[in-house]
Amino acid sequence: MGDPVTEYTARLQQQEQEIQRLSAEIKNLENSQNLSPSPRLEELQEENARLKYRLNILKKSLQEDSLSQRGKAMLNINQRLQEASCPELDNPPLSIAPSQQAKFGDYQCNSAMSMSQMLKAKGIKMNPREIAEKIIKNLPDNELVQKTEVAGPGFINIYLQKTFVSKQLSNLLINGVQPPPLPSKKKVVVDFSSPNIAKEMHVGHLRSTIIGDSMCRLFEFLGYEVLRLNHVGDWGTQFGMLIAHLQDMFPDYLTVSPPIGDLQAFYKESKKRFDTDEEFKKRAYQCVVKLQSKEPEFIKAWNLICDVSRTEFQKIYDCLDIELIERGESYYQDLMVEVVKEFEKKGLMELDEGRKVVFPPGQPIPLTVVKSDGGYTYDTSDLAAIRQRIFEEKADIIIYVTDSGQSTHFQVVFAAAQLIGWYDPKVTRVEHAGFGVVLGEDKKKFKTRSGDTVRLMDLLDEGLKRSMDKLKEKERDKVLTPEELTKAQRAVAFGCIKYADLSHNRNNDYVFSFDKMLDDRGNTAAYLLYAFTRIRSITRLAKIDEATLKKAAETTEILLDHDKEWKLGKCIQRFPEILQKILDDLLLHTLCDYVYELATTFTEFYDSCYCVEKDRQTGEVIKINMWRMLLCEATAAIMAKSFDILGLTPVERM
Ligand code: ARG
Repeated sequence: MGDPVTEYTARLQQQEQEIQRLSAEIKNLENSQNLSPSPRLEELQEENARLKYRLNILKKSLQEDSLSQRGKAMLNINQRLQEASCPELDNPPLSIAPSQQAKFGDYQCNSAMSMSQMLKAKGIKMNPREIAEKIIKNLPDNELVQKTEVAGPGFINIYLQKTFVSKQLSNLLINGVQPPPLPSKKKVVVDFSSPNIAKEMHVGHLRSTIIGDSMCRLFEFLGYEVLRLNHVGDWGTQFGMLIAHLQDMFPDYLTVSPPIGDLQAFYKESKKRFDTDEEFKKRAYQCVVKLQSKEPEFIKAWNLICDVSRTEFQKIYDCLDIELIERGESYYQDLMVEVVKEFEKKGLMELDEGRKVVFPPGQPIPLTVVKSDGGYTYDTSDLAAIRQRIFEEKADIIIYVTDSGQSTHFQVVFAAAQLIGWYDPKVTRVEHAGFGVVLGEDKKKFKTRSGDTVRLMDLLDEGLKRSMDKLKEKERDKVLTPEELTKAQRAVAFGCIKYADLSHNRNNDYVFSFDKMLDDRGNTAAYLLYAFTRIRSITRLAKIDEATLKKAAETTEILLDHDKEWKLGKCIQRFPEILQKILDDLLLHTLCDYVYELATTFTEFYDSCYCVEKDRQTGEVIKINMWRMLLCEATAAIMAKSFDILGLTPVERM
């Protein structure tokens, strides 16, 4: 036989298929129930319950299999607890959350009340306490759960087994932070950053860049194949005037690379001429036609202009350590022709005052697929792009990260793509991850003092300056080597800018404030980076080397008897459930809130539990509480992995 992994994967796939089949069967049964409330009803209900039972068992064994296959991963305790169910309901809305207070256990579930309501609506009378008992009976096996209790009208308190959590932590230290098992390889396209050539990359693009990169990092960690696409605006009629202007300003552009220093100014000049000079305008239009028919000289001119922008964008990406593939609107030129044909052939195109439009039912606006002059639009290129991503890239998930102002655009594009049958939302996940606008500290649109738009490079430079001021204020320049100091400066500056963005719910507008983001108290990157170096320094001060720690992870049981040890242990153990949540809603601030909670929980622990005991007089280390050192290590490992996903660079010393 082949290797066990392949074998397992095959078995997993088989089981998954069976689950899918069973689900479909259940659906069918339910549908037929609706159609004919006949004597068959009871029979069907019985069969239904049986199938569901079987489905649950299969799901459980599926998870167990993936667990043993990838036993190195941390267990998502919450998810595991959610496997409990209430057999009388199809998809019991079981919500389980970590308890805020110890008297309510480690996790709690308050769903019995709402389930009772739902059952009542179905004509089944069952009180919440009864339901709670049933849920408890269905809780997964008990190496995980120490005890449960039903409190009040039907609250369930779940107490975890300390030895289980302790083992999980040791596992984490031995194997490193491993992603949860991914049953089959999936491909994700993330369309982000996407500035426009010859125009300024603005703060909106900065948000998209930061959020998109972090999403990619999450998917990459989880084992997805990720295609990071920069859908730059590099095609359109504006290139006509830019090329016409280029020809006038740098007549020998074909042989000598034109020194366009400031592309924005260049854009403005050409726009001015375009608006005021009829002759120029005419030529600009001719240039568009020649560019579209791919005349080499015009392609060359277009490339030159794109290159200037590219170099500018790259500076920003280098600072922020962002990698992505440029695949702009121009990439889809030929595919746009296909798209138009396909919509026409399927009779989905309408004529509207010379334009060709697609109007998916139920949508507020149509898409303009062909303009009256025969040209294509932003809509056309997005249709071509989604088609290419589904059929050529074979993406399972496609995410667009732009400001929420574009949500209608994407909504209609997605509706059109479904209308024409390119994808089924139940199979392919296509989502617009929108975000709010960036505001200045005056809560108005983000501008410089003089009212101009802020250039991104200036913003990053200012961040660098401010972070250096801060480090000097703390006299770090006296302790760190010049190299360490620059490292810290960059880590703090860019980390703070990213973190400030990521730590806010992306759907809201957010106020850009250097003072707030560089504050080393509160939920900021500055605070977290400091907290991290502090944890790292604990092992350094105790003079424990890596090998000793590794050995200890294998041999020393991590005790979780002290309240604060237990609190910290549970907090560390929540990492997988946090990632799962973000995978579902693409809201990264949950991870920020979590790391912040982890850092403060660690502080509580460190303040009340000695890790290293020293002689009061001599300061000499007299005792090392190794299991606590391991807790420090586990905390640091989770923090480091979180930083990694958030795109922050931790430093050993700062
Ligand atoms: N270039 C566009 C802008 O600056 C963003 C493109 C987003 N991606 C897309 N496939 N439409 O607003």
